[in-house]
Amino acid sequence: MAEENKSSLDPLAALCKRRGFIYHSSEIYGGMPGFWDYGPLGCELKQNVKQAWWQFTVRGREDVAGLDATIIMHPKIWKASGHLDTFADPMTMCKQCKKLMRADQIDDIRAELGKKAAAVNPAYALSCPHCGGEMTEPKPFNLMFKTVVGPIDDPSNVAYLRPETAQAIFAQFTNVLSTSRQQVPFGIAQMGKSFRNEVTPRNYTFRSREFEQMELEFFIRPDEAVEILHGHVVTLADNPDLNGPVQDDWGWEVWHKYWVEQRKKFLNAVGLPTEHFVEYWQKPDELAHYARACVDIEYDFPFGRQELEGIAARSDFDLTQHQKHSGESQMVFDDPLKQAAKKLDDAARKAFIEKVQADWVSRGKDPIAAEKFCLNLFDGKYVPHVIEPSAGVDRLMLALLCEAYEEQKLTDEKGKEDIRTVLHFHPKVAPVKVAVFPLVKKDEACFNMAREIFDKLRKKVNCFWDASGQIGRRYRRQDEAGTPWCITVDPESPKDGKFTVRDRDSMQQERMTYEEFLVKMYAALEF
Ligand code: GLY
Repeated sequence: MAEENKSSLDPLAALCKRRGFIYHSSEIYGGMPGFWDYGPLGCELKQNVKQAWWQFTVRGREDVAGLDATIIMHPKIWKASGHLDTFADPMTMCKQCKKLMRADQIDDIRAELGKKAAAVNPAYALSCPHCGGEMTEPKPFNLMFKTVVGPIDDPSNVAYLRPETAQAIFAQFTNVLSTSRQQVPFGIAQMGKSFRNEVTPRNYTFRSREFEQMELEFFIRPDEAVEILHGHVVTLADNPDLNGPVQDDWGWEVWHKYWVEQRKKFLNAVGLPTEHFVEYWQKPDELAHYARACVDIEYDFPFGRQELEGIAARSDFDLTQHQKHSGESQMVFDDPLKQAAKKLDDAARKAFIEKVQADWVSRGKDPIAAEKFCLNLFDGKYVPHVIEPSAGVDRLMLALLCEAYEEQKLTDEKGKEDIRTVLHFHPKVAPVKVAVFPLVKKDEACFNMAREIFDKLRKKVNCFWDASGQIGRRYRRQDEAGTPWCITVDPESPKDGKFTVRDRDSMQQERMTYEEFLVKMYAALEF
């Protein structure tokens, strides 16, 4: 984004509305806070972002399988995951103006209001940034949307719209394992809608109540199993090569860092350069109760630096919880581990158990559970640990829009100044890949050739046809949509079989044949 546009989302939001990227949901009825719709260009952008993620994360790899689970699941899933008891924000209400707010966002809201903010009232523990009134004591507010399944509105029929896609992956872990011919280490990926009843949805589409996630749960062996198999566990201190093939002797720390690197590669591939985001390693006191480590990839949005996605090492927390709550074993059988364990004599097994117990005790865990865990490992059994790269589709779309948006000052040959608004999307995510224009609408040969090219190309990629207005205006319309290439067919084209391809970013024009254009286009679209 150009420097002068950094401070405000307004010009981008205006473009998104005007060109059909993003609308308020239910706008004719006044809209719904925290709900947004994607228009013709927005839904193409969204499809492309999701398709790119799926290609990079699932189809492009041999060790990841896909899942598409329901939004409403058995409510016990949310008890097991901890969401029923702990997925809450601290909510407070102004006693005077009755506005609801998240207690931890009051300072941010005051900063956003700027000069319009009410002065802090030192008599109150919390004073309203809108009117200066006294705020109530913050109370936890569960973010899950409740619904009722079936015709009887009874507490026994209460269910929840999922607040994350991840839990379905854990709940279906054993099914996918037994039907996909995968073995640990392997991953299960899912994209889909999630819902969070945010107290104060804000920052345009960034924090919405209905949103879409792209999550991968990558299951790995516990480090203790790697130790038995290989006699060592590779850690980050060993400087492993994270760009080469994955290795069987990696410990969880290495797998975690590997996925951080993979996610950065993906962001680069869809148009976010590394220097435009920040890798934030959460401090021990910031980690969620299940996490051993978590990296946030943060992006400098116009409203501040915010998390784009998170990569968490969740240990065996989730599968163990589901094992406990469902009574169904979530253990895998790992034959190479059993064969390796067979080679350990009694003394080696005893020493191994003692070492694991000492480690577990140092992390506040039970030594008896440690022994049981080791005995299962000797039988080739364990509950897998997991690394979770979790991304938000809408957040990534917003980051790509912010990154792509530019208002360029142009001066023509006559010295006339002009502003060109352009979205510099990477071709892979650009909603329209090619626009096709006949230069002279009334020239039948020229028109027919343009139409023929358009018909051939739209079988391959999303194209746009525009036969009206000055050619310069047609280019500008496509610049605002972020279309990487415009093809103009002129009266010479039917004679020499070539057309002009105008590049969105450089505005350079080049004559080429259809086949030459296909080579150029596919080179830019490939991962
Ligand atoms: N599964 C992690 C999240 O939804 O934030």
